[in-house]
Amino acid sequence: MKRKGQGIRFQLTAGIVLMTIAGIGLVGLMSIKIAERSALQWKLSQAEGIAGFMRASMRLSDGGQGWGGKLAASLADEAGIADFRLTAPDGRQLASSGSMPSGPGKLVYSGSVEAYMYGGSFLTGIGEFMRVSANVPGAGRFEFILSLAEVNEDMAAVRKLLAFYAIIDSIVIIGFGVYFLSRSIVQPLKKLEESAKRIAGGKLYDRADVAVDNEVGSLASSFNSMAERLEDEIKSLERVNLELTTAQDELLRNSTLAAVGRLAAGIAHEIGNPLGALNGYIDILSRGGLDPAEEKEIIGRAARESDRIDSIVRDFLEVARPAKKALFPVDVNSLLRETLEGLSVRADFGGVATDLAFGQGIPHVMAEEGKLRQVFSNIFINAAQAMEGMEKKTITVSTAAESRPAAVKSGRRRGDAPAERLPAPREFVLVSIKDTGAGVQADDSSKIFDPFFTTKEVGKGTGLGLFVSQSIIKAYGGEITFRGADPGSEFTIALPAAEGGA
Ligand SMILES: Nc1ncnc2c1ncn2[C@@H]1O[C@H](COP(=O)(O)OP(=O)(O)OP(=O)(O)O)[C@@H](O)[C@H]1O
Ligand SMILES: [Mg+2]
Repeated sequence: MKRKGQGIRFQLTAGIVLMTIAGIGLVGLMSIKIAERSALQWKLSQAEGIAGFMRASMRLSDGGQGWGGKLAASLADEAGIADFRLTAPDGRQLASSGSMPSGPGKLVYSGSVEAYMYGGSFLTGIGEFMRVSANVPGAGRFEFILSLAEVNEDMAAVRKLLAFYAIIDSIVIIGFGVYFLSRSIVQPLKKLEESAKRIAGGKLYDRADVAVDNEVGSLASSFNSMAERLEDEIKSLERVNLELTTAQDELLRNSTLAAVGRLAAGIAHEIGNPLGALNGYIDILSRGGLDPAEEKEIIGRAARESDRIDSIVRDFLEVARPAKKALFPVDVNSLLRETLEGLSVRADFGGVATDLAFGQGIPHVMAEEGKLRQVFSNIFINAAQAMEGMEKKTITVSTAAESRPAAVKSGRRRGDAPAERLPAPREFVLVSIKDTGAGVQADDSSKIFDPFFTTKEVGKGTGLGLFVSQSIIKAYGGEITFRGADPGSEFTIALPAAEGGA
């Protein structure tokens, strides 16, 4: 699966960049604030110096009223102060120059003088100027304005310098950070990822070549031991799989051989009996001395034995290589009725009642009529024989048409494929033949379609009837199934309906 979004390299780099910028930015801001503070401190001490000088001079002048204004003006002149004001304790203005700001300003210092700041904030730095107010004994209050333009110029230079160092520092820190993270985390993880992909692609022998001494390194070594185990497990699974396939092939070959063996033994046995009898009759005939009537009798018996051999061989040939004869539409209901009528004269059908429940409008099926008659006959005869000696003897025959999914042979079920991809359902004709006989022993129900499986006495059954019937029905694309009924048995034959309906 392709991963979306940024890789770990991008995320780590972004993290380093953000952290560096935040760190360097904070340190820079702190440095600027410290520089502003010390610049302000310098200006304050300047202001204190001026105020102190004013006080000392006033004291020397011994509080002469006229002195104050002159002193203030000349001091302001010396200190380069354009704006000042000297106010007597009674509120009279003794001297002034320039103008005083209208607002009170922000008190930033209160000691031997009071300093008020105008303009400036946390973000924009210190203000534009400062109003200093000092008590002067003998004169009153001396106020003057100190410009901060010089300080602001210095601060701008400091900011530029700090910004320059911040950029250089950031580049160095980010460069080193990215390099170390890449070496210790990103590259090892990349190698791990590539190795995992190669293993997933089938290169089970692949290992991650990661030699870093950290968690990623131990992850890589755990990954490698996992890959080692995976490789071992898969190899052993492949080995087991191979062994199983070989064993299965062997088993299949053996069971096929066994089945062929059983079949051959069955055929040999079935043919052996009439063949033995035939040999006996030939022997009797070759010795001679029989009167014509006896001779005729022996020849008749020999002919019957040879017919038996012929019929067994024919049955088998039919199953092994069904003759490709033309198929015709057959009306199942009529054929069932005719077959039953034909059989009713047989001794084993004495006392057998039939209950016919034929469906209406049943479609024809494509078959060779003779073969289908053979199938029905065999099932009817089996039913009659199973009811021999019983009080109630009923054969119930019912027919119906049913729509079934066409894919019956692959064992596919309805849910396996979307409905639109299933072949169209086919019409089937169902024939159910139920008897009230002794039923099939539970152990035998899986064997009744096997060749030569019979529970009947020698001479009465060869055990080929159902085997041959099944091969006929299968050749027509149908199926024949058995289930126990209570009482008796039920055989169901399903045959595909002829195209185009009845
Ligand atoms: N309707 C039935 N009721 C009880 N058992 C049955 C019935 N049909 C078949 N069987 C059992 O299945 C066995 C096999 O039947 P199948 O028709 O293949 O051979 P068979 O009747 O024994 O001999 P054949 O049909 O070759 O003369 C029977 O011997 C019998 O045990
Ligand atoms: Mg039979």
